[in-house]
Amino acid sequence: MAEVVIVPSPADAGALVADEIVRLIAARPDVVLGLATGSTPLPVYEALRPRLAGIDVSRVRGFALDEYVGIDPRHPQSYRSVITTEVVEPLGLDPERIHTPNGDLASIAHAGEDYERAIADAGGIDLQILGIGTSGHIGFNEPGSSFASRTRVKTLIEQTRRDNARFFDTIDEVPMHCITQGLGTILSARHLFLLAFGEGKAAAVAGAVEGPVTSSLPGSAIQLHPHVTVVVDEAAASHL
Ligand code: GLP
Repeated sequence: MAEVVIVPSPADAGALVADEIVRLIAARPDVVLGLATGSTPLPVYEALRPRLAGIDVSRVRGFALDEYVGIDPRHPQSYRSVITTEVVEPLGLDPERIHTPNGDLASIAHAGEDYERAIADAGGIDLQILGIGTSGHIGFNEPGSSFASRTRVKTLIEQTRRDNARFFDTIDEVPMHCITQGLGTILSARHLFLLAFGEGKAAAVAGAVEGPVTSSLPGSAIQLHPHVTVVVDEAAASHL
Protein backbone atom coordinates (compact mmCIF):
# COMPACT_ATOMS: atom_id res chain seq x y z
CA MET A 1 0.00 0.00 0.00
CA ALA A 2 1.35 3.37 -0.98
CA GLU A 3 2.02 5.90 1.73
CA VAL A 4 -0.33 8.85 1.10
CA VAL A 5 0.66 12.29 2.35
CA ILE A 6 -1.95 15.04 2.12
CA VAL A 7 -0.37 18.50 2.11
CA PRO A 8 -1.96 21.96 2.22
CA SER A 9 -0.47 23.18 -1.06
CA PRO A 10 1.67 22.19 -4.07
CA ALA A 11 4.52 24.20 -2.52
CA ASP A 12 4.42 21.93 0.56
CA ALA A 13 4.54 18.89 -1.72
CA GLY A 14 7.50 20.39 -3.56
CA ALA A 15 9.31 20.98 -0.26
CA LEU A 16 8.70 17.42 0.91
CA VAL A 17 10.09 15.83 -2.26
CA ALA A 18 12.94 18.34 -2.54
CA ASP A 19 14.05 17.56 1.04
CA GLU A 20 14.25 13.87 0.17
CA ILE A 21 16.25 14.62 -2.99
CA VAL A 22 18.70 16.79 -1.03
CA ARG A 23 19.11 13.97 1.50
CA LEU A 24 19.85 11.51 -1.32
CA ILE A 25 22.42 13.82 -2.94
CA ALA A 26 24.18 14.21 0.41
CA ALA A 27 24.35 10.42 0.75
CA ARG A 28 25.30 9.78 -2.86
CA PRO A 29 26.42 12.72 -5.03
CA ASP A 30 25.89 10.73 -8.25
CA VAL A 31 22.26 9.88 -7.38
CA VAL A 32 20.05 9.02 -10.36
CA LEU A 33 16.82 11.04 -10.45
CA GLY A 34 13.78 10.23 -12.55
CA LEU A 35 12.46 13.54 -13.83
CA ALA A 36 8.91 14.30 -14.88
CA THR A 37 7.52 17.08 -17.04
CA GLY A 38 4.07 18.67 -16.99
CA SER A 39 2.97 21.27 -14.47
CA THR A 40 2.80 18.94 -11.45
CA PRO A 41 6.53 18.53 -10.68
CA LEU A 42 7.32 22.25 -11.03
CA PRO A 43 6.97 22.95 -7.26
CA VAL A 44 9.61 20.26 -6.64
CA TYR A 45 12.09 21.95 -8.97
CA GLU A 46 11.26 25.36 -7.46
CA ALA A 47 11.82 24.03 -3.93
CA LEU A 48 15.11 22.44 -4.97
CA ARG A 49 16.62 25.69 -6.15
CA PRO A 50 17.27 27.34 -2.76
CA ARG A 51 18.01 23.98 -1.15
CA LEU A 52 20.75 23.11 -3.65
CA ALA A 53 22.52 26.47 -3.42
CA GLY A 54 26.05 25.74 -2.27
CA ILE A 55 25.69 21.97 -2.77
CA ASP A 56 27.85 20.21 -5.36
CA VAL A 57 25.41 18.83 -7.93
CA SER A 58 27.98 18.21 -10.65
CA ARG A 59 27.61 14.43 -10.43
CA VAL A 60 23.81 14.23 -10.19
CA ARG A 61 22.32 12.18 -13.00
CA GLY A 62 18.78 12.26 -14.36
CA PHE A 63 16.45 10.55 -16.80
CA ALA A 64 13.23 12.11 -18.06
CA LEU A 65 10.16 9.93 -18.32
CA ASP A 66 9.20 10.71 -21.86
CA GLU A 67 9.50 12.80 -25.02
CA TYR A 68 7.39 13.61 -28.05
CA VAL A 69 8.33 11.83 -31.27
CA GLY A 70 9.30 13.90 -34.28
CA ILE A 71 9.50 17.20 -32.38
CA ASP A 72 12.58 19.36 -32.89
CA PRO A 73 14.54 19.04 -29.60
CA ARG A 74 14.96 22.85 -29.71
CA HIS A 75 11.15 23.37 -29.83
CA PRO A 76 10.25 25.05 -26.52
CA GLN A 77 7.72 22.29 -25.77
CA SER A 78 10.01 19.35 -26.47
CA TYR A 79 10.60 17.67 -23.12
CA ARG A 80 14.34 18.11 -23.73
CA SER A 81 13.77 21.89 -23.77
CA VAL A 82 11.39 21.78 -20.81
CA ILE A 83 13.84 19.76 -18.70
CA THR A 84 16.65 22.13 -19.72
CA THR A 85 14.77 25.30 -18.77
CA GLU A 86 12.91 23.99 -15.70
CA VAL A 87 15.53 21.70 -14.19
CA VAL A 88 19.02 21.67 -15.69
CA GLU A 89 19.63 25.42 -15.94
CA PRO A 90 17.99 26.67 -12.72
CA LEU A 91 19.55 23.89 -10.64
CA GLY A 92 22.96 24.05 -12.33
CA LEU A 93 22.98 20.38 -13.30
CA ASP A 94 25.39 18.99 -15.89
CA PRO A 95 23.37 18.72 -19.15
CA GLU A 96 25.54 15.78 -20.23
CA ARG A 97 24.27 13.79 -17.26
CA ILE A 98 20.59 14.54 -17.80
CA HIS A 99 18.93 12.38 -20.42
CA THR A 100 15.65 12.43 -22.30
CA PRO A 101 14.45 9.68 -24.62
CA ASN A 102 15.45 10.42 -28.20
CA GLY A 103 12.32 11.30 -30.16
CA ASP A 104 14.28 11.87 -33.36
CA LEU A 105 12.67 9.90 -36.21
CA ALA A 106 16.04 8.87 -37.65
CA SER A 107 16.90 6.71 -34.63
CA ILE A 108 13.44 5.90 -33.30
CA ALA A 109 13.70 2.17 -34.07
CA HIS A 110 16.33 1.65 -31.37
CA ALA A 111 15.73 4.70 -29.15
CA GLY A 112 13.77 2.72 -26.55
CA GLU A 113 16.43 0.06 -26.21
CA ASP A 114 19.18 2.71 -26.07
CA TYR A 115 17.38 4.52 -23.25
CA GLU A 116 16.86 1.34 -21.26
CA ARG A 117 20.56 0.55 -21.61
CA ALA A 118 21.54 4.04 -20.45
CA ILE A 119 19.32 3.72 -17.36
CA ALA A 120 20.75 0.27 -16.61
CA ASP A 121 24.33 1.53 -17.10
CA ALA A 122 23.61 4.29 -14.56
CA GLY A 123 22.59 1.60 -12.06
CA GLY A 124 18.86 2.31 -12.24
CA ILE A 125 16.78 5.23 -11.01
CA ASP A 126 16.93 6.00 -7.28
CA LEU A 127 13.97 8.37 -7.00
CA GLN A 128 11.30 8.75 -9.66
CA ILE A 129 9.03 11.80 -9.69
CA LEU A 130 5.64 11.11 -11.29
CA GLY A 131 2.62 13.17 -12.20
CA ILE A 132 -0.59 11.53 -13.35
CA GLY A 133 -2.72 12.39 -16.37
CA THR A 134 -6.49 12.70 -16.20
CA SER A 135 -6.66 9.40 -18.13
CA GLY A 136 -4.65 7.80 -15.31
CA HIS A 137 -1.48 7.72 -17.40
CA ILE A 138 1.98 7.91 -15.87
CA GLY A 139 4.78 8.96 -18.15
CA PHE A 140 2.89 8.63 -21.42
CA ASN A 141 1.67 5.11 -20.66
CA GLU A 142 -1.92 5.44 -21.74
CA PRO A 143 -4.70 3.02 -20.72
CA GLY A 144 -3.96 -0.46 -22.04
CA SER A 145 -0.20 -0.22 -21.44
CA SER A 146 1.43 -3.42 -20.23
CA PHE A 147 2.76 -3.44 -16.69
CA ALA A 148 5.86 -5.16 -18.11
CA SER A 149 6.47 -2.48 -20.76
CA ARG A 150 9.85 -0.81 -21.17
CA THR A 151 10.74 2.42 -23.00
CA ARG A 152 8.96 2.42 -26.36
CA VAL A 153 6.96 4.50 -28.84
CA LYS A 154 3.27 5.03 -28.06
CA THR A 155 0.38 6.87 -29.69
CA LEU A 156 -1.09 9.67 -27.57
CA ILE A 157 -4.81 9.42 -26.93
CA GLU A 158 -7.06 12.34 -27.85
CA GLN A 159 -7.69 13.30 -24.20
CA THR A 160 -3.96 13.68 -23.52
CA ARG A 161 -3.43 15.68 -26.70
CA ARG A 162 -6.30 17.96 -25.61
CA ASP A 163 -4.83 18.27 -22.09
CA ASN A 164 -1.41 19.13 -23.50
CA ALA A 165 -2.72 21.53 -26.17
CA ARG A 166 -2.40 24.32 -23.59
CA PHE A 167 1.37 24.18 -24.07
CA PHE A 168 1.07 24.67 -27.85
CA ASP A 169 -0.64 27.32 -30.03
CA THR A 170 -3.19 24.83 -31.40
CA ILE A 171 -4.05 21.18 -30.76
CA ASP A 172 -2.85 20.32 -34.28
CA GLU A 173 0.69 21.12 -33.15
CA VAL A 174 0.59 18.52 -30.36
CA PRO A 175 2.53 15.51 -31.66
CA MET A 176 0.63 12.25 -32.27
CA HIS A 177 3.34 10.00 -30.87
CA CYS A 178 5.68 9.88 -27.94
CA ILE A 179 8.47 7.74 -26.57
CA THR A 180 8.00 6.91 -22.91
CA GLN A 181 9.55 4.85 -20.17
CA GLY A 182 7.30 1.81 -19.79
CA LEU A 183 5.39 0.88 -16.66
CA GLY A 184 7.98 -1.84 -16.11
CA THR A 185 10.74 0.77 -16.34
CA ILE A 186 8.97 3.02 -13.84
CA LEU A 187 8.37 0.10 -11.46
CA SER A 188 12.12 -0.62 -11.53
CA ALA A 189 12.94 2.71 -9.85
CA ARG A 190 13.78 2.36 -6.15
CA HIS A 191 11.37 4.96 -4.75
CA LEU A 192 8.37 6.45 -6.53
CA PHE A 193 6.89 9.82 -5.62
CA LEU A 194 3.53 10.37 -7.31
CA LEU A 195 2.25 13.93 -7.04
CA ALA A 196 -1.15 15.33 -7.97
CA PHE A 197 -2.96 18.57 -7.27
CA GLY A 198 -6.51 19.76 -7.86
CA GLU A 199 -9.95 18.24 -8.18
CA GLY A 200 -9.32 17.30 -11.81
CA LYS A 201 -6.85 14.62 -10.67
CA ALA A 202 -9.01 13.21 -7.85
CA ALA A 203 -10.51 10.31 -9.83
CA ALA A 204 -7.16 9.29 -11.32
CA VAL A 205 -5.51 9.44 -7.87
CA ALA A 206 -8.24 7.32 -6.24
CA GLY A 207 -7.99 4.77 -9.04
CA ALA A 208 -4.22 4.65 -8.86
CA VAL A 209 -4.03 4.34 -5.08
CA GLU A 210 -6.98 2.15 -4.16
CA GLY A 211 -8.76 1.04 -7.33
CA PRO A 212 -8.23 -2.33 -8.98
CA VAL A 213 -4.75 -2.90 -10.38
CA THR A 214 -5.56 -2.65 -14.06
CA SER A 215 -3.94 -1.52 -17.26
CA SER A 216 -7.10 0.56 -17.91
CA LEU A 217 -5.69 2.91 -15.27
CA PRO A 218 -1.91 2.72 -15.75
CA GLY A 219 -1.22 4.66 -12.53
CA SER A 220 -2.60 1.69 -10.56
CA ALA A 221 0.70 -0.05 -11.39
CA ILE A 222 2.16 1.83 -8.41
CA GLN A 223 0.32 -0.63 -6.14
CA LEU A 224 2.80 -3.28 -7.30
CA HIS A 225 5.76 -1.24 -6.06
CA PRO A 226 7.09 -1.69 -2.52
CA HIS A 227 8.13 1.93 -1.93
CA VAL A 228 5.70 4.57 -3.13
CA THR A 229 4.89 7.96 -1.63
CA VAL A 230 1.81 9.71 -2.99
CA VAL A 231 1.80 13.44 -2.25
CA VAL A 232 -1.47 15.20 -2.92
CA ASP A 233 -3.41 18.29 -1.89
CA GLU A 234 -6.90 18.05 -0.34
CA ALA A 235 -8.64 18.44 -3.70
CA ALA A 236 -6.67 15.65 -5.39
CA ALA A 237 -7.26 13.46 -2.31
CA SER A 238 -11.01 14.12 -2.29
CA HIS A 239 -12.03 10.80 -3.91
CA LEU A 240 -9.84 8.65 -1.64
C1 GLP B 1 1.89 14.68 -19.38
C2 GLP B 1 3.20 13.94 -19.06
C3 GLP B 1 3.10 13.15 -17.79
C4 GLP B 1 2.42 14.04 -16.75
C5 GLP B 1 0.98 14.26 -17.12
C6 GLP B 1 0.25 15.25 -16.24
O1 GLP B 1 1.27 14.30 -20.55
N1 GLP B 1 3.70 13.09 -20.10
O2 GLP B 1 4.38 12.73 -17.38
O3 GLP B 1 2.47 13.44 -15.50
O4 GLP B 1 0.81 14.56 -18.47
O5 GLP B 1 0.53 16.57 -16.58
P1 GLP B 1 0.33 17.78 -15.59
O6 GLP B 1 1.29 17.57 -14.49
O7 GLP B 1 0.65 19.00 -16.38
O8 GLP B 1 -1.08 17.72 -15.15
